[in-house]
Amino acid sequence: MIRRIHHVGIVVKRLTEAYAFYRDVLGLPLVREAQLVDQGVRAALLAAGDSEIELLEPLGPSTPVGRFLARRGEGLHHLCFETPDVGASLVVLKDRGVDLLDTAPRPGLAGQIGFLHPRACSGVLVELATPPGPTLEEPSPLRLKRLVIGAEDVRATAGVFQSLFGFPEVAMNGGPRTMLAVEDFSTLTASLREAGTPRLDGTGEVTVEPAGSHGVHLHISRYTFP
Ligand code: CO
Repeated sequence: MIRRIHHVGIVVKRLTEAYAFYRDVLGLPLVREAQLVDQGVRAALLAAGDSEIELLEPLGPSTPVGRFLARRGEGLHHLCFETPDVGASLVVLKDRGVDLLDTAPRPGLAGQIGFLHPRACSGVLVELATPPGPTLEEPSPLRLKRLVIGAEDVRATAGVFQSLFGFPEVAMNGGPRTMLAVEDFSTLTASLREAGTPRLDGTGEVTVEPAGSHGVHLHISRYTFP
């Protein structure tokens, strides 16, 4: 049901000031900016690989985002997953008794969108979006690699996300594991591929499953030795 992280939403005081960092310093291209009166925000999407960063400036102090800003300050606000049919996804979740803020899709900056209630997702505000057309990956100097969510009980929270969104478990940090670093990453991954070693390939990192490394959880990342 879920294709990828469509965007990560960040509340800012002023879009123009946030552009000075996200667009001008980091170099993320501005994809779209719009005023969404029903959501009480002026919002912008900037490309970060095949995901985006969404900046949200409240239109006033009494809007939901304005109240968030007053209470928590600038920072991470929500996370948005892309789904091929947000309406169908909301129906499935509703039938399962999941707490939703939107039971039907509505237009947003990322296309048709709907929000789950944070209490359904271990306190994380999650948005689902179906973009209007095929997503064109904008060239950007930085890519979103992963989003780390704080959790009191990592295993339970991972279970919530897996059951709601059907995510496979990639790796559970916290268990015993051996971390290795390698300079010639492509040769290493080619040998692992050739050997058929059970593993999870990431960008610049690979996790060898214990079945392939004599019972040891190996995490190997690309590293340039000084
Ligand atoms: Co959003």
